[in-house]
Amino acid sequence: PEEKKPELPLFYGWFLLKEEEERIKCATMDFLKTLDTLEAFKEHISEFTSEANKEVDLEQYFQNPLPLHCTTKFCDYGKAEGAKEYAELQVVKEATGKSEELSVTALIVTPRTFGARVALTETQLNLWPEGEDKVGVAPTLLPGVESLPAGSRAHVTLGCSAGVEAVQTGLDLLEILVLQKEGKEGTQVEMDMGTLSYLSEGRWYLALREAITADTTFSSFSE
Ligand code: A2P
Repeated sequence: PEEKKPELPLFYGWFLLKEEEERIKCATMDFLKTLDTLEAFKEHISEFTSEANKEVDLEQYFQNPLPLHCTTKFCDYGKAEGAKEYAELQVVKEATGKSEELSVTALIVTPRTFGARVALTETQLNLWPEGEDKVGVAPTLLPGVESLPAGSRAHVTLGCSAGVEAVQTGLDLLEILVLQKEGKEGTQVEMDMGTLSYLSEGRWYLALREAITADTTFSSFSE
């Protein structure tokens, strides 16, 4: 007999259109190529590799098997809390299959992840589940995260280092935003694309001079 398909997807999100995906990959790869040649980055290279004096090729360092997207709700085929409720929301049903333009305002690089920060519009925030920013956040980081505006975790995972799961990108982004709010920004470097800042322990944040927009379609995803 045919196996029954699960009713709920792995996750919901905005998926970049194919041609947009190529454009974003190129632009963000250019940033990685420049980053690993910067003196400021080389000074902190030990946070990316244990081998002394070793160079890191960031383009090889980060891998990403999934199509580029910005997750709104991780459902885990119904195992995640609130998955069913989310799928049944009228706004979710209505948004499915519709196009939406996302705005990327910053890029982050850490020893674990490479990601794009997404600034959600009021309308887009309607698809952002209440309390989703806090899911899986370490207790020590929670007070900081609770002080950030809703949707602060919104991002596109551009790549993860070996053995790291994509969920880490949102957590790394939150950590950076909390450190910024506490005024813990270190070295700043002006780059063509924007202002790069260092936030300890191998965390880098590039505030883009001009936001990168990308056309997307909202949909569910199952493997
Ligand atoms: P992200 O949204 O940061 O890219 P996976 O391939 O690991 O199953 O993940 C599928 C997608 O769901 C990825 O986009 C991933 O992270 C996101 N994701 C995975 N686990 C979680 C989680 N626990 N909470 C939120 N998002 C998750």
